[in-house]
Amino acid sequence: MHINRPKTFASRMNGSAALLLVALALPAAADEAPTLGPLPAAPKVNPDRAALGRLLFFDARMSGDAGVSCSTCHDPAKGWGDGQALSDGYPGVLYFRNAPDLFNVASRNTFMWDARLDGNDLGTLVRDMLVEAHTMNLDSRLGQERLKQVPEYVEMFKKAYGSDPYGGKMYGAIGEFLKTIRTKNAPFDKYQNGDQTALNEPALRGLALFTGKAGCAACHSGPMLSDGDVHATGAPDNPELITATTEEAAQRQITLLRHYATQGVPNYMNLRSDVGNYVVTKDEASIGKFATPSLWDIGQTGPYMHSGVYTTLGDVVSFYNDGGGSVANKDRRIKPLGLSAQDQSDLVAFLQSLTGDAPDAGVPQLPDYQLRQAGQN
Ligand code: HEC
Ligand code: HEC
Repeated sequence: MHINRPKTFASRMNGSAALLLVALALPAAADEAPTLGPLPAAPKVNPDRAALGRLLFFDARMSGDAGVSCSTCHDPAKGWGDGQALSDGYPGVLYFRNAPDLFNVASRNTFMWDARLDGNDLGTLVRDMLVEAHTMNLDSRLGQERLKQVPEYVEMFKKAYGSDPYGGKMYGAIGEFLKTIRTKNAPFDKYQNGDQTALNEPALRGLALFTGKAGCAACHSGPMLSDGDVHATGAPDNPELITATTEEAAQRQITLLRHYATQGVPNYMNLRSDVGNYVVTKDEASIGKFATPSLWDIGQTGPYMHSGVYTTLGDVVSFYNDGGGSVANKDRRIKPLGLSAQDQSDLVAFLQSLTGDAPDAGVPQLPDYQLRQAGQN
């Protein structure tokens, strides 16, 4: 019975050496040893839809002012992010969080730092990015009329969907393209697929720390190196959001509070910090909890954390070594680790081994507008 478990645990401890306590406590309360990688299998992709979605991903006509594309904030040359601590957002606003990378995005459990969207629903994610005032501010009817005046797009929609450009299909096509964004040739993936030479000595020592003394695999586990859950590590908010007295901080607070208002957060005007998953549950136990990010390709996706406060992987490791930040709901597994300087650099070497090839940064040639003959609309 559930209620008896702590008792059984305690009596086992009483009757045995302290060594057993250590042995039981080490795997950070996980019931089984966590598995790490290899990468999830590649999703099935419809090539016609993905080819169309690739063009739309780079096409700024998909935003209200025709000046912002998905690739503005998710740039392949910057590890599918924007290389900034906090995202700029749509012209006229400044966003309050870091723009995440998109590697293996089709295999994520949830989307957004606060895990507010279901990871199985790429179409909804894409729609939100396109129409949200903070990102692309597109009226989808305007988007569809624009695409109908581009003969190449009309052809591609016909081939991919057998129809004219249309809201739901625009979302689906971009979602199909997202499925093609994958980690390629990461040493650790090769290692987990049987190539014992893929990791060097420091990375191998880092792997042992990751699954052992440093306790990282308690949350960064499985094929995505994420448990798909939310936790509070105490990673601080960016000073540009909470403490700066600049106009910039005011602008970021505007998007933060508008986000809270949209999510129906009670008394949101009293909040000034990023409460994370609380917007989903409205339960105080969720304040400060964020989705565990995947760590594939982590060497090319900085700055790190929801707030982009850490620039290097060394900064992140030192944050964990110090026992994380201070936050009410901090996960009990985040505690001072006592890692030596050598341990910390080994851990960074292991994190680097999760990093594959830089993506092809080539921007496709986009087709031009051309007046569509009356009667064909
Ligand atoms: C103005 C910058 C900007 C633009 C443009 C933009 N995004 Fe984002 N994107 C972000 C930010 C910031 C987040 C994180 C939001 C949050 O957690 O509150 C995000 C989150 C995401 C996520 C979730 C990733 C995860 O694991 O949580 C995906 C996928 C994504 N964007 C894809 C796209 C696509 C596709 C487009 C184009 C249709 C797009 N984005 C346009 C800034 C942008
Ligand atoms: C209790 C669960 C937990 C443990 C244990 C944990 N992490 Fe994390 N990790 C998270 C969460 C949650 C985040 C996102 C935090 C945020 O943005 O505020 C994160 C973020 C990160 C990031 C930044 C990823 C990005 O894309 O910005 C890295 C790198 C990382 N962790 C590495 C590690 C390492 C190395 C260890 C071990 C020393 C570790 N983590 C231990 C849950 C955990």
